[in-house]
Amino acid sequence: MKKRFLTAAAAAICAVSLAACGSSSTGTTTADTTAAEAAEDTTAAEGGDSAAEETEAAEDETEASGGTLVMATNAEFPPYEYHDSSQVGPDGSDIVGIDAEIAGAIADQMGMDLVIEDIAFDSLIPELQSGKADFVAAGMTVTEDRLVNVDFSDTYATAVQSVIVTNDSDIASVDDLAGKKIGVQQGTTGDLYATDDFGDENVDRYPKGVDAVQALVQGKVDAVIIDNEPAKVFVGDNEGLKLLDTAYAEEEYAIAVKKGNTELLDQINAAIAELKDSGELESIVAKYITAE
Ligand code: ARG
Repeated sequence: MKKRFLTAAAAAICAVSLAACGSSSTGTTTADTTAAEAAEDTTAAEGGDSAAEETEAAEDETEASGGTLVMATNAEFPPYEYHDSSQVGPDGSDIVGIDAEIAGAIADQMGMDLVIEDIAFDSLIPELQSGKADFVAAGMTVTEDRLVNVDFSDTYATAVQSVIVTNDSDIASVDDLAGKKIGVQQGTTGDLYATDDFGDENVDRYPKGVDAVQALVQGKVDAVIIDNEPAKVFVGDNEGLKLLDTAYAEEEYAIAVKKGNTELLDQINAAIAELKDSGELESIVAKYITAE
């Protein structure tokens, strides 16, 4: 379990700036775009109207190229993908968030029409393997086990697994989790790591992260292990919860495609590189995550 520990300082740096912890595989990072520039871009380019126009433009281009790109996700993971009935997402549905917008930008660059499918997290990889979806964008962490079944793009974000407890909890560090009931979203890295480190019998799996958080509020579990950004959203939405200072594991998010689909993978990587270079990736992140 030791290798999973991360200092609070490192976690804080990642939390403040995704760009600072971004991919090391691409030479150019978005770190040189200032926050002010990013904020400007956000206002200029990401208004509701222009999003609608972009959708129309994408549709027109699709008619020409006849292509639909199907993204599979689990839209229970704010700020990366979630339902918001007050917004129109890049595929015209109410699914919004960082991954949804990145996918919208990738589809735009490819001249394709985007369709987003919202399914269970542990069905995402089977959905790719069966060919029902072209790619998965779901805050999905690159792991060796997953690499056996899918190919991953260059990474576009760094995350850490965080621990949520109640304000009055006696759990002060990851070590204190031994022997406690831990709630997780089924099939996530939080699930896999907690099971490895603390034993299957101590892990309660829920279909959605928010269900695990509800179980914590109701006293059915003692802690929840989940990615830091959704963790912050869930703590903000619920009274009486807090995050431990020590993060549990550091990881990187990437887009997954069916094993061997190098044509699509190359296009996705080119699009991600372009989003990083132009500062658009940073603008998208800044729209959903405010640096403290
Ligand atoms: N990063 C974690 C993983 O890859 C959790 C991702 C959960 N994503 C979601 N859309 N529910 O396992």
